[in-house]
Amino acid sequence: PTWGKSLPVPSVQEMVRKDHEFLSERYIQEHKDRAVATNLSPTTSEIPIINFSLLINGDEDERRKLDTACKEWGFFQITNHGVPEKVLKKMKAAVAAFYELPLEEKSKYAMAADDIQGYGQVYVVSEHQKLDWCDIMVLMTLPPEYKKMKYWPVAIPGFKEAVEEYTTETLKLAEEIFANISLLMGMDKDALKRLHGKIMKQAIRMNYYPTCSRPDLVLGVSPHSDTSTITLLLQDDDITGLQIRHREGWVPVKPIPNAIVANIGDVIEGWSNGVYKSIEHRAVTNVTAARMSVATFVIPDDDVELGPVETMVDDYNRPVMYKSIKYGDYLRYTFSKKMDGKANTELLKVGNE
Ligand code: SIN
Ligand code: FE2
Repeated sequence: PTWGKSLPVPSVQEMVRKDHEFLSERYIQEHKDRAVATNLSPTTSEIPIINFSLLINGDEDERRKLDTACKEWGFFQITNHGVPEKVLKKMKAAVAAFYELPLEEKSKYAMAADDIQGYGQVYVVSEHQKLDWCDIMVLMTLPPEYKKMKYWPVAIPGFKEAVEEYTTETLKLAEEIFANISLLMGMDKDALKRLHGKIMKQAIRMNYYPTCSRPDLVLGVSPHSDTSTITLLLQDDDITGLQIRHREGWVPVKPIPNAIVANIGDVIEGWSNGVYKSIEHRAVTNVTAARMSVATFVIPDDDVELGPVETMVDDYNRPVMYKSIKYGDYLRYTFSKKMDGKANTELLKVGNE
């Protein structure tokens, strides 16, 4: 697809490496968007925890917990997910090894102006756009023929193997979650997988958030909802950075060692007719420690329609609330449009232009 051109932006990691006090106007958020404690959620609650081993054994209570999590939070942490600890450790080590490379080495994998894969910054469309305090590395991982090896730092020992093993494991996990959500949506267990169309794609984004001398002024990642069906996130065990929108405030997602964070993306919000929510989230930075995270996005085929499935429509109680836009068109639209604080999914709702 054509993505338009993205503008080259300097590496934040490099700026901070040269000058720990580094800060520039382009990173300073408007007052209302800043990561200050006053807009933290008044509730002290934490996102739901789903015990995956119960779920795969068909435990009805756990499946109901998943239902509530997807309706009320759009986010949950998965424990006992079955992904071997060794695979998680290797994946984290691969990301750390990549970001340890000198800038000249990393730059060999720089995102081309018309691409979304490679090393760079979150998609930048305007000189005036506020910049996120984050460097990223994006790789398509599935289907295998979609991999662009020119972006893979295969010279790092174990990198390719780590990413491939992690890809296989997270795909299994995603498919099991899809099976459960399919049942909850009143369909057969293979329905969500089938709805992805001819090819189910997967991309991973490795995020690096350097330390920041003024975390109160910047954002690691500004608020957004994910355009995926589901996103699985691996994060550092001891640094909190992710925050999710919940009841008018932001709730920090405290890492649980070895757990994987999952969130519902825009696609499932559409298919479920808004019953399951693709929740806005952001990442904040801190003064003392750089943070890394790995987001895995499961993505449907470009010609898949995002309107609600039949089982989630009830003409009397829940009429069709989401448009039937093709996924590829939706993606291009969200990339080209600056949402000014509105969730992407506003574009999907019936009655909105
Ligand atoms: C993201 O959702 O874009 C990043 C989340 C994180 O780093 O915790
Ligand atoms: Fe995200």
